[in-house]
Amino acid sequence: MSEFENLVAVVTGGASGIGAATAAELARRGARVAVIDRDGGSAPASVHVEVADLADDAAVRGAVERIAAALGGIDVLVNNAGIGAAGDVAANEDDEWHRVYDINVLGLARVSRAALPWLRRSAAAAVVNTASVAGTNGLPNRALYSATKGAVIALTYAMAADHLADGIRVNAVAPGTADTPWVRRILAASEDPEATSANLRGRQPMGRLVTAEEIAFAIANLGSPRSASTTGTVLTVDGGLTTLRV
Ligand SMILES: NC(=O)c1ccc[n+]([C@@H]2O[C@H](COP(=O)([O-])OP(=O)(O)OC[C@H]3O[C@@H](n4cnc5c(N)ncnc54)[C@H](O)[C@@H]3O)[C@@H](O)[C@H]2O)c1
Repeated sequence: MSEFENLVAVVTGGASGIGAATAAELARRGARVAVIDRDGGSAPASVHVEVADLADDAAVRGAVERIAAALGGIDVLVNNAGIGAAGDVAANEDDEWHRVYDINVLGLARVSRAALPWLRRSAAAAVVNTASVAGTNGLPNRALYSATKGAVIALTYAMAADHLADGIRVNAVAPGTADTPWVRRILAASEDPEATSANLRGRQPMGRLVTAEEIAFAIANLGSPRSASTTGTVLTVDGGLTTLRV
């Protein structure tokens, strides 16, 4: 029997990059998969797609209810959608701070609270949040983004504690810089894409970017019923950036 057979998995931001790779990995492992994305266009074929903006609570609730009705509940939630922000602490005005928090932190809370009643009914309930090495390492010019990812890590521990008694495991992955459309957009917008790319690769001890598939593999493992004793952890998938000095 395959690992996620009879389980329903929801992946936010599942139409691109890490989320799309995760949706594909979970489907490959036997889950019935739904994606919530504000732009459903390039979600993997064969997954259920709900187009919704995580900043819109009513849209999120509607999407979660439709998924549960169509696929028969929700067992695994991957809170992966997120957006970036550049600059130091002075670089962004209040409205940009509110916008990025609204998606990266409140968005995660909105989807989680809408999914909770379904997760509580599951015998294999798991939440996996996509944090970032920016949440635990001081990276230059990522003040606002890093603050939101630190909040995702704090929320992961808090949710793991709150929902232990509900039988819901809550974990996170903290990826290093990954080769996704997001990072390709950053490189395309930089003054010297080759130098920026070399700098990002060089920051990671392995000397290369992480792949979306490697992060998807870690997310699927944390979400798997085979990880039944793992809750309240943050798994780095960062080519050694966080802990190695080589
Ligand atoms: N790429 C990296 O280097 C990297 C590193 C660490 C962490 N992360 C995190 O991984 C996650 C995915 O990143 P990615 O590189 O795959 O990005 P991506 O831009 O390729 O994909 C993000 C997806 O999220 C969706 N999305 C964004 N805002 C949304 C909203 N308001 N409502 C609904 N959907 C929304 C987008 O439409 C897109 O499909 C993010 O949380 C990001 O912070 C990425």
